[in-house]
Amino acid sequence: MSGKPANGQDGNANAMWGGRFASSPSALMEAINVSIGFDRRLAAQDIRGSVAHADMLAKQGIISEEDRDAIHDGLKRILEEIEGGHFTFSTALEDIHMNVEGRLRDLIGPAAGRLHTARSRNDQVATDVRLWVREAHDRADAQITNLMDTLLTQAAAHAETVMPGFTHLQSAQPVTFGHHLMAYVEMLGRDRSRIRDSRKRLNECPLGAAALAGTSFPIDRHATAEALGFDGPTRNSLDSVSDRDFILEYLSIASISAMHLSRLAEEIVIWMTPQFGFVRLSDQWTTGSSIMPQKKNPDAAELVRAKPGRIIGSLVALLTVMKGLPLTYSKDMQEDKERLFDAADTYELVLAAVSAMIADLKPVPERMAAAAGAGFATATDLADWLVRALEMPFRDAHHVTGRLVAEAERRGCGLEDLSLDVMQAVEPRITDSVYAVLGVENSVRSRMSFGGTAPDNVRAQIAWWRARL
Ligand code: ARG
Repeated sequence: MSGKPANGQDGNANAMWGGRFASSPSALMEAINVSIGFDRRLAAQDIRGSVAHADMLAKQGIISEEDRDAIHDGLKRILEEIEGGHFTFSTALEDIHMNVEGRLRDLIGPAAGRLHTARSRNDQVATDVRLWVREAHDRADAQITNLMDTLLTQAAAHAETVMPGFTHLQSAQPVTFGHHLMAYVEMLGRDRSRIRDSRKRLNECPLGAAALAGTSFPIDRHATAEALGFDGPTRNSLDSVSDRDFILEYLSIASISAMHLSRLAEEIVIWMTPQFGFVRLSDQWTTGSSIMPQKKNPDAAELVRAKPGRIIGSLVALLTVMKGLPLTYSKDMQEDKERLFDAADTYELVLAAVSAMIADLKPVPERMAAAAGAGFATATDLADWLVRALEMPFRDAHHVTGRLVAEAERRGCGLEDLSLDVMQAVEPRITDSVYAVLGVENSVRSRMSFGGTAPDNVRAQIAWWRARL
């Protein structure tokens, strides 16, 4: 990882606390302890936190303004080095916090040592991760919104496109494709509201809790909280350095949301099969087979179906790390980051892939309509008609309809193909106005109850969500 000698040090992490340590850590100790390989992703947040901290220390008269300026200049340069890719990370310096501080010492000398006044890596890392997770919330919010927008556009184009609705993956009742897509808009709307809710809860600043008990220096935690965009400082120093529930909340939300996306992905997989043929995806979103020339496989959708395993795994891994830990900080908590980063990368990737796939998706209305009429999908409409027109109790109507379905099945035709004579042989009071409810379009149009699948309802739902995006 490092070609040069460790920043500001002699390659010996113990130099940070060398007063009490006579020798370097063993190689294995370093291997198990080191986190710079992954926590370097916190560099920008770490530097932002340090800038705010140094600023506050100077304002409170704890460090001089010259030292503050030197610290600020040095940190600015370090950020440029890291972003430009020419910072040398040192494993001996363990983590991002000590890598930055070590380099600061290279650049500005002893003043660097004053930055850590009234601060510990415990409140530092808690602050850095909160800043990172807050940004992850904001990215997720924007991506979910974008996906909802894409779904609304497709739903608006297909508010009247009839397809079968399923229970038990058996054709149940006709619905519209727009209505079906709007179900996912509802799910994503709840995911987005969970993200917003969680963001509010996490937006408190642990900086200044120090190692665990607070500090005797006259710091201003409200000032650093404000400078970092938090609503205020956390109230209990022990809690500040010892909980990671804000990460767990993010992972739970990402798990739930990725689960939603996996269901949509699974439906795309089903709809893409030649047997269904409800939708097409362009070549951009499918792959061929190396042996079977006819194949167009929905690999991306399958991977969206699979990826939640990683996110849910991360949630379970971090819950397992955290459970039973005594207050306050323990090094166990360093295990939060790889799970967090992997889950966030995965979640963001699937959100982007699903948005692009939904935009790419071309429904095949003829196939959907044909399937919507299959399997006696309007049997419930027939039963409802018997209740309405003949004032039959629903249970009796269900029975009569069952006999008519059996009759149609015997003849190998649809309900709408049964002649009036045949129907009247089962129930003499049936009139020819029954045919008006038997077509799938009529069925769908009649479902005007609030939240139902009637195209006018679907358009109203789309307008409702458009106003809230
Ligand atoms: N790399 C550590 C972590 O991620 C930083 C905090 C270390 N604090 C300590 N007391 N060893 O948790």
